[in-house]
Amino acid sequence: MQRLDKILTTYTACSRREAADLIKRGLVQANALICRDPAARFDPAGLVLQIKGEIVPIRLQNHLMLYKPAGFVSATEDPREKTVLDLIDPSDLYPLPFPAGRLDKDATGLLLLTSDGELCHRIISPKKELYKTYLVEVQGKLGAEDAEKISQGLVLESEERFLPGMLEILESGDISLASLKICEGKFHQVKRMMASLGKPVLSLKRTAIGGLALDEILSPGAYKRLTPADIEAIFQ
Ligand code: URA
Repeated sequence: MQRLDKILTTYTACSRREAADLIKRGLVQANALICRDPAARFDPAGLVLQIKGEIVPIRLQNHLMLYKPAGFVSATEDPREKTVLDLIDPSDLYPLPFPAGRLDKDATGLLLLTSDGELCHRIISPKKELYKTYLVEVQGKLGAEDAEKISQGLVLESEERFLPGMLEILESGDISLASLKICEGKFHQVKRMMASLGKPVLSLKRTAIGGLALDEILSPGAYKRLTPADIEAIFQ
């Protein structure tokens, strides 16, 4: 059960002040009855909410797939930088989604945004062993020895350890291209892994999270709502 004013601020574009004002003026109906008490409690699931006579549908969770372009930080707010939420239409920000795992400002590709804390945890916790796939372009020639080291679990000079990953070399030359699967999301992890092999990252794109691939229909900066089948696909 949640307070009516909280329901308005969580599931609609109302600010706290607007919510209290609308409720006190008798402009909000809950289950067809005017409710003038901002502290009255309702279960948002199944609540029929009307504001000024209009039914306002309540979306309990908000799950989005974004093709993150370069130049945006994976945060809900930032004092200086543009955030991935700046790419989302204001009408799609209720309830507020947050990034399930970060991509660096210069990295691109699949970013899931969700309002569901439990789903977020299942996606990002290394204990859940959900592999994320990256297309990584590096300076230098990738070889079988690099794939072997990654499959053993890299240990950096600082003694920091990374869990074993899988490197599939797609092109090998002065500049190499590979697909890398890892199930952790440590700070700059892919860049630090490849740098430790002496092959600095030139570009990085996340192409899949678990069994869910970036939808090719999306162009950089575009997003779509996830279906229940998409959410299931993540964990398959
Ligand atoms: N690893 C990185 O180095 N950067 C990312 O954005 C994601 C994984």
